[in-house]
Amino acid sequence: MSTTLNAVKPLNIVAVSGGLNNPSKTEALVQEIIHELGQATPINVHFIKFSEIGSLLGGAIYRHQLPQRVQDDLAAVEAADALIVGTPVYRASFTGLFKHFFDFVEQTALVDVPVLLAASGGSDRHALVLEHQLRPLFSFFQAQTLPIGVYATDRDFTPEYTIQSAALRDRIILAVARALPILEWAPAKGQRAEVVKAKTVQANQNLGINRQIEQEEVLPSAAVPDLQAAESRLQHKAGKTSIQADVA
Ligand SMILES: Cc1cc2nc3c(=O)[nH]c(=O)nc-3n(C[C@H](O)[C@H](O)[C@H](O)COP(=O)(O)O)c2cc1C
Repeated sequence: MSTTLNAVKPLNIVAVSGGLNNPSKTEALVQEIIHELGQATPINVHFIKFSEIGSLLGGAIYRHQLPQRVQDDLAAVEAADALIVGTPVYRASFTGLFKHFFDFVEQTALVDVPVLLAASGGSDRHALVLEHQLRPLFSFFQAQTLPIGVYATDRDFTPEYTIQSAALRDRIILAVARALPILEWAPAKGQRAEVVKAKTVQANQNLGINRQIEQEEVLPSAAVPDLQAAESRLQHKAGKTSIQADVA
């Protein structure tokens, strides 16, 4: 590929493969996207593989309960200039563990971060998992999902899990080519970590305020009067109905 970016610093790319198997088609797909991007522009890559960390995720409800390794992976996601995310399709969606991992990501950390979406499935029929499952998840984070995602099926891979399909290779090249102009504007290349840290502190403070509002103001002052008003309207209505019934 001939297109290159003018970036002085390499882009800090974090790739996530939700593939639990080893070897994994999803992992091979994400690896190929990393390779293609690396041909086009200088990148540093932190590759998070669920084939390695998947079994460490399930028992945790809160982030501090996760092993340090996974906490470090989450911090890397939050500090990335851009993400490449891939998941196998399980029951027409991303896997539960893939979602569980992103449940721990601080909710403002991915604002404006470009995200290249990828998935591998057994069937062509679930290709829209990119649009109907992955894109909305990253829209929640207000991330900048890149225009072209990459979907692969089992048939695109050799028995050794290398990519054998020319059409899939072309799609990866296209996805990276379309990503490049957006990556050129990726916020503060290589400098997101500090920004994210500040945003996280701010978000946690806001959470505290929200909790206070919920408990001390909203519930007693808004909910109860509404209930009384609703009850009196109901009684009024019931009274009318019984009068009408008497008349009849
Ligand atoms: C529990 C389970 C559910 C699956 N559900 C689907 C599905 O709904 N649609 C589909 O196309 N493939 C489905 N598959 C097939 C996988 O998505 C496919 O083989 C994928 O490439 C596996 O990726 P991996 O090698 O990274 O684990 C399912 C596989 C498993 C194990």
